[in-house]
Amino acid sequence: MKTQLIFATPAQIETELLVVIAADAQTAKGPDARPEPILLTGDAAVKSAANAVLTSGEFKADANETLLLHAPAGISAKRLLLVGVGKATKATAHAIRSAVGTSVRFAKPRGIRAVTFALPETPSLPPGPNSRAAIEGALLADYDPDTYRSDRKDQGVHSFTLAASGAENASVKAGYAEGIIVAESQNFARELVNEPGNKLTPTILGQRAAAMAAANGLKSEVYSTEKLHELKMGAFWSVSQGSEEPPALIVLTYEPEGYDPKTYTGPVLGLVGKGITFDTGGISIKPADKMELMKYDMAGSAAMLGAMAAIGRIKPKVKVISVVCSAENMPDGKAQKPGDVQTAMPFSADEPGKTIEIINTDAEGRLVLADGLTYARQLGCTHLIDAATLTGACVVALGPVNAGGFSNNDETFEKLNKALDISGEKVWRLPLGDEYYDQIRSDIADIKNTGGRWGGAVTAAEFLHVFAGETPWIHLDIAGMAWYEDTKPFIAKGPSGFGVRSILEWVRSYE
Ligand code: BES
Ligand code: MN
Ligand code: ZN
Repeated sequence: MKTQLIFATPAQIETELLVVIAADAQTAKGPDARPEPILLTGDAAVKSAANAVLTSGEFKADANETLLLHAPAGISAKRLLLVGVGKATKATAHAIRSAVGTSVRFAKPRGIRAVTFALPETPSLPPGPNSRAAIEGALLADYDPDTYRSDRKDQGVHSFTLAASGAENASVKAGYAEGIIVAESQNFARELVNEPGNKLTPTILGQRAAAMAAANGLKSEVYSTEKLHELKMGAFWSVSQGSEEPPALIVLTYEPEGYDPKTYTGPVLGLVGKGITFDTGGISIKPADKMELMKYDMAGSAAMLGAMAAIGRIKPKVKVISVVCSAENMPDGKAQKPGDVQTAMPFSADEPGKTIEIINTDAEGRLVLADGLTYARQLGCTHLIDAATLTGACVVALGPVNAGGFSNNDETFEKLNKALDISGEKVWRLPLGDEYYDQIRSDIADIKNTGGRWGGAVTAAEFLHVFAGETPWIHLDIAGMAWYEDTKPFIAKGPSGFGVRSILEWVRSYE
């Protein structure tokens, strides 16, 4: 899909489809309060073209509700599409993101190849975030997980025009440029998540990460089994030992302009991702039902790689290191067994590796992340964030609506909360605590890798907490967010790319 930004009067634009945002301006409450749909444009000709239907009561301007008019009178477009955002007071950047997406996904199956979106004008929306959200919504909606389908390649919107009214505006232009970077990075993450286990092994993930790094000005190192042994990453290696596919330890580094290791005193942010390219459960094997979805068990690493792609292009003034721990969790003659004891990576001579009793080989994500977090600290990270499709328990707790968030540091979590305001993504903070840690004490080793039936998302987070130590750290359990099971009007079902936008903004908050 080609995109462009123009500054023009909506009514005068010749296009297949002109999209205008509608909101419900009704402020009264009560049973008799009828919706009062209004258009968020200052263009009188467009308003008059839609006037009859707006007063008819047929269209309520609910969020993502659509109404199509053919040959609208008095304007140059062939069709006019109204897309609702709900209450006018709730016309946030995120509502715009969804509404634009809805318009692109409306056009796609109908063979409408050119879409022009009239950037809404409302005092509650600053121009930069407004145009950024709009172009993000368009590019995210354009994505379909059809890499391996041969029958629908011609179904797509070929050109998308973002039309801002009035004179050229630098904030609108900057928001537009940034939105393209963010959405492309998120779509890159979605492509990775969509790849099946046979097409995306840890080795291939390493290659894709290295190619992305080279294209975006990041340093990359990709290691395998030997390096894991050298670093004594016993926890990470134990997950890979049951697979013919070697593990990959992927390290990407972003250094801000003018970076000098001798004089740099700013924070070093560590982005750690779970990259299980397929999770069978290992010897504690999973049931067959829906097991095919366990190809998305590398979504945490995809989120980090997507964020790194955006960081390489946006160039914030802060150093960032991403550590991705990738392996395939398989059962075979060499696989680890319940009852095995593994030794995690030592941090230093004074801080030897913790011993871990393996209770369930399906709790493998925390094992690879344990060594990933330790390694990130050893590389000098001052702040850590990890993302992982870690527990089914988190999905039970929060559903496919919020990711679980955990942190040992209120200040850094507050920065994440601010990032969420910009990204429109949802994370709900869940607790940590010594009482939960008690659940993962082992009789025969330092800790064990599962904490029993209750509070499974929290005991998994407590396990990671051991390896993050005192370093300010956030853990995102994205098990319920990485893969959309339902079709939404503004985004395809399947890989979501969740986390890319929020992690990027969290990083930028340290500039
Ligand atoms: N990858 C799974 C978690 C998962 C579940 C992700 C559903 C996405 C959707 C993880 O490795 C796992 O198997 N976790 C176990 C932990 C248990 C054995 C303590 C789980 O949640 O059942
Ligand atoms: Mn598992
Ligand atoms: Zn897993």
